[in-house]
Amino acid sequence: MLVATTIEEVKANVRQWKKDGLKIGLVPTMGYLHEGHASLISRARGECDKVIVSDFVNPIQFGPKEDLATYPRDFDADCKLCEGLGADLIFHPEPSEMYSPDFHSYVGVDTLSAGLCGKSRPIHFNGVCTVVSKLFNITEADKAYFGQKDAQQLAIVKRMVRDLNFNIEIVGCPIIREEDGLAKSSRNTYLSDDARAKATILHKALTKGEEMVRAGETDAIKVRTEITNIIESEPLAKIDYVEVVDLGELQQCDVIDGPILTAVAVYIDNVRLIDNFIVE
Ligand code: PAJ
Repeated sequence: MLVATTIEEVKANVRQWKKDGLKIGLVPTMGYLHEGHASLISRARGECDKVIVSDFVNPIQFGPKEDLATYPRDFDADCKLCEGLGADLIFHPEPSEMYSPDFHSYVGVDTLSAGLCGKSRPIHFNGVCTVVSKLFNITEADKAYFGQKDAQQLAIVKRMVRDLNFNIEIVGCPIIREEDGLAKSSRNTYLSDDARAKATILHKALTKGEEMVRAGETDAIKVRTEITNIIESEPLAKIDYVEVVDLGELQQCDVIDGPILTAVAVYIDNVRLIDNFIVE
């Protein structure tokens, strides 16, 4: 597996691969890889000739009071995992390689970024769209793999690709969970043992909500209220949002009469966790 730290190294390999007519898959990550990331890499391995994993904690998607400095990192372990899964290249640039001091160009998707996580993280999705655009251009990938764990991010990236005519197919992949239902996340390592045990409340609440919708409940407010009540039964949990939105424009809906995304963001002992379910 090739380890590249510069854009030029990636481009040189991509040039050769393109010349050979090979299909390139990209898995963008911020590292500290777990089974969630692994599922994306395996999917790419199965569908593409060459697999690139980017491993970059993107500074411009973190707000000033967020966890950029403490975001967990273990590049050696990431390399082992990627190599074991048969990735061809891991791209691990320094921030200065991606952002020159006079960097001034940003990409954003307006409406879809306004609600859900965008409310409490106003610059986040512009940072994501900008780095993802750069990665698409650097790797010239045919396909890029994203998890439904970050459902709003997936919707935004898909819209950006459509609106700006990027020549790439976005593949959404299911949420990978711990045995007790907690969605896998690099940030789970912030949880104390006690908070980790209590964090299962997100999945419990969402499971109940999903059961209601699948059983035919069309009142989104009832679904939201039930989820909220279950989460609030856990004293350590502090809700950022519980939302039922339509899957197209991510606008809050009161009546469920089409595909919906139900998403939550909850602080458990000050660690912000997100989770969701989709009913098509
Ligand atoms: P990161 O949080 O490292 O996630 C990288 C990819 O892995 C995302 O597409 C995310 O949805 C997916 N993923 C994370 N946990 C998952 C799980 N439990 N099941 C399935 N997929 C999971 O998301 C980012 O990085 C960044 O915003 C990035 C897109 C790399 C841009 O910087």
